[in-house]
Amino acid sequence: MSAVSKEAKRVTTHILQKMKSNHEKISMLTAYDFSMARIIDNAGIDVILVGDSASNVMAGHETTLPITLDQMIYHASSVIRGVKKALVVVDLPFGTYQGNSKNALDSAIRIMKESGAHGVKLEGGIKIKESVERILTAGVPVMGHLGLTPQSIYKFGTYSVRARKEEEAEQLLRDAKLLEEIGCFAIVLEKIPADFAAEVSKSIGIPTIGIGAGNGCDGQVLVSHDLFGITQDFAPRFLRRYMNLFEDMQTAVKAYIKDVKSMDFPNDSEQY
Ligand code: KIV
Repeated sequence: MSAVSKEAKRVTTHILQKMKSNHEKISMLTAYDFSMARIIDNAGIDVILVGDSASNVMAGHETTLPITLDQMIYHASSVIRGVKKALVVVDLPFGTYQGNSKNALDSAIRIMKESGAHGVKLEGGIKIKESVERILTAGVPVMGHLGLTPQSIYKFGTYSVRARKEEEAEQLLRDAKLLEEIGCFAIVLEKIPADFAAEVSKSIGIPTIGIGAGNGCDGQVLVSHDLFGITQDFAPRFLRRYMNLFEDMQTAVKAYIKDVKSMDFPNDSEQY
């Protein structure tokens, strides 16, 4: 197979745009390491997000704030090695893009150069306009993120549903239109009312990817550890768990411990 036809199979930002036009829903999941990325990519996911939720599910922090740019690059480069088809987007971590567009550009370029990812995601609208614009001038695809923006958790104080109030909803819609206008290729809408998310999705030409934002978005994203049931004490209404890997893996570990203690493992055929 030629390099050109291999290339054609990869999901691109242009393909996502076509999917929106064709009313084909976009699937997106997070991954933070090679093995998980390989499983998810092989299953046919459209987009893999190396989310700063790695701070929670991989490092055990309470918020996404502590994760560093170096750590995001480590996760992203591990993911990239496991992916053949999906578009890989990486979160710019807290403190690497807000309020300083040169800093934002440097951070995005480091991610692209050192991990081989295909785009970056930033949280916010008008307040980060300059940062987004400057990253876009370097030819780096940018995904926006509006609604619940976990990097601002200490400003809001809760992870509750956003944009319930008219003023906040109006600002979000303005932000979505602005992000489209300046050149973002898609926007994550997190934890906003479903009817409003559908309205935003219809009001802009680029795809919206929802999490806790209902069925009217152009695609859906979940944190893979939530979908697999590896996380246990996180159960928002929007989460559908497809497995209970926490239980299943514990069962396997308990069986292994039992077999080691009883000298059942390794048996004759499991040794040299
Ligand atoms: O970091 C993350 O996993 C995210 C998703 C929840 C959209 O930003």
